[in-house]
Formats: sequence, C-alpha cells, structure tokens
Amino acid sequence: MKAIILSGGKGTRLRPLTYSGAKQLVPVANKPILFYCIENIVQVGIKEIGMIIAPETGQEIRDAVGDGSRWGVTIDYIVQDVPGGLAHAIRTARGFLSDSPFVMYLGDNLIGTGIERFLDEFNRSKPEALILLKEVENPKQFGVADVSGNGKVLRLIEKPEVPPSNLALVGIYIFSPKIHDAIDLIKPSGRGELEITDAIQELINMRCNVESFVLDMWWLDTGKKDDLLTANAIVLDEWLKGNISGTVDTASKILGRVSVGRNSVIRGSTIRGPVVIGENTVIENSFIGPHTSIGDNVRIIKSSVEHSVIMNESELRDIERLEESLVGRRVRIVENRKTHKALRLMLGDDSAVEV
Ligand code: TTP
Repeated sequence: MKAIILSGGKGTRLRPLTYSGAKQLVPVANKPILFYCIENIVQVGIKEIGMIIAPETGQEIRDAVGDGSRWGVTIDYIVQDVPGGLAHAIRTARGFLSDSPFVMYLGDNLIGTGIERFLDEFNRSKPEALILLKEVENPKQFGVADVSGNGKVLRLIEKPEVPPSNLALVGIYIFSPKIHDAIDLIKPSGRGELEITDAIQELINMRCNVESFVLDMWWLDTGKKDDLLTANAIVLDEWLKGNISGTVDTASKILGRVSVGRNSVIRGSTIRGPVVIGENTVIENSFIGPHTSIGDNVRIIKSSVEHSVIMNESELRDIERLEESLVGRRVRIVENRKTHKALRLMLGDDSAVEV
C-alpha cells in the first residue's frame, strides 16, 4: 500500500494567506495541517508517500516536509503542472503509484481519528474503491454519496440540489489500481477539472465494487477561515498537553492546559488554556484567552486575544480585544485610539494594520 497526499491546488478560499504560502502549511495548534495528514498515513505503516505539489508552492512544502526521514518514511515529490482536479493529480502520480493500491489524502483535511479502521475495512472487503463519508447538516455544499443499506456506493453527486443523503465525501479515499482505467475514461467537467467523483462514478458504471465507510468523529476541511479556527479550537481541546518550556514570571497566571515553547517569555499576563505558544515569543501585560495558537517570534504587548491563530513573527500592541481572527506571518496590529469594540479580522502575510 502506498499513499499520495494532495498539496497542490489554488487555495482561493484562504486568500490572502495563500497568496504567499501553501494552505496545507497553515498551522492548526502550531503544527501545519499537512503534518496531521502525514502522521495519520505513517501510523498505519505506509512507507512510501507521494506528495503532489504545485509549481508555485511546491518548494515551500519540500522545505517544510523534507524527505520523510523524520517520520521514517520516504516522500517523493510529484509536480502537478496545473491544478487540473483530483483525478488529474492521480494521473500525474501514475509512475509513482505503479500497480499498487493506495490511500489518497487531501492535504487540507483534518479528521478527529486515525485511518486504521478505514484501511482494515479495505483489506477485509477488497473493493476497487473505499470512500470515507461523514454525515453533514448542509449536504448541498458537498460531494454527496447515495449509499445502499450495506454501505455500497450507488451514485455520487457533486453539490446536489436535492441530496439523496446527508453523507458528504471527506477527502480521504483508498483505491485499487483499477481507478487508473476509470480516469482514462473521464472528460474534464464544466469547471475544466478531471473530477474524482466522475472517476468513481465510472468505476460504479463498470460494475466495480465501490464501498463507503462513515466517519464517526469530527472532520474539518480547513480551506476556510472559520473552519480553520474551529479546527484549531478542537485540536487544542482534544490533543494539547500542557508543557511550559519558556519562562513565566510570578505576576503571570497560567490556567488550564497551556504550552509555552523554548525561549518564550510571559510577563504580567494571564493565559487561559487551551493555548499553545511557540518559541521566542514574548507576551507582556496581556490576556490570552482559550482556543488560541500563537506562533514563534511573536510579540503581544498590552493586548487581549481569544479564539484566534496568530502566525510567526507578528506583533500586537494595545489591542483591547481581538477574537476569532486569523493573522498571517509578519503582521503588525497596533492601536492608536481608544475603542471598546471587539475586532474581527482576517489578515494576510506582511499586512500592517493600525486600528
Ligand atoms: P480544493 O480545496 O478542492 O481546491 P483548491 O486547493 O484549489 O482550493 P480552493 O477551493 O480554496 O481554491 O483541493 C483539495 C486539496 O487537494 C487541497 O489540498 C489542494 C489539493 N489539490 C491538488 O493537489 N491538485 C488539484 O488539482 C486540486 C484541485 C486540488
């Protein structure tokens, strides 16, 4: 069994952050989303991973991920010259995949569990495709599966007007090499992409066995700001372990699970967990509320921050209240007049805002 992780794409929904960086590297609880994907794959014993990258953001992904040795696996980089769709990504990886069955994992998806049971199901019933589904409240916004009583997939519909079920396609699949034959038969969709839903539908038309597995834990597609903040809150809630490596002065209060990285300094501040703070960061005379991730080399002075993600090298000064905000790298936010209103912001890398 091999795996491919899709880390190309356009990332339009997370602009402006994705003008200057790959969306798969946006941090959740101070760890790139992509690393959670890699870890889930490594955990089931897969040793060969193909990483699909785009020409624009590929180098950044190579630099962050490396050759896989830190996870004890090999990672091959496969450049997809255009974001031609998920099935196009598989076609691009054909040489790497050879005739192996494989897991396909979208590099911006986060699920609240590992993939062991999903893989066990594939090995047990040996379908041509196994797709991971999740019950959602708004199926009209997703690719939706029509599934029979025993989990067989009868039909897939992209963003249906009248959804046949509330089961949405999570971006994790396991395929036999038969999928390549199906991809050879499909044509680009209305939006010009080779769609994985069309390829799987082609498998169904070929009378191949396509099965489903319904995820009973949370799933978040981190492609949008609010989903990313939700993912950050859930991951901090469920997985963060308190650990103070930096310095906290006696005038500061640490409540709940808080992690403070090396060489970070907390002075005269209250940190109410779950909160993760990176390395070489200074927090002074501030309140850092629950569900907040603060990166490396950040300065937060006389400010209050809740339910937010503040990425590396940013600075906040005299900000009375910042909440539900996603702040990119090297952003500077300073207050120059007194106001009691809460701020809601989505700022890209290198922004400078005075409020
Ligand atoms: P999407 O989020 O569906 O597409 P996108 O990255 O173009 O984003 P947006 O809608 O915000 O413009 O892609 C899901 C994942 O698959 C994401 O990690 C990017 C990746 N991907 C590829 O690697 N190649 C592709 O051709 C496409 C369409 C996506």
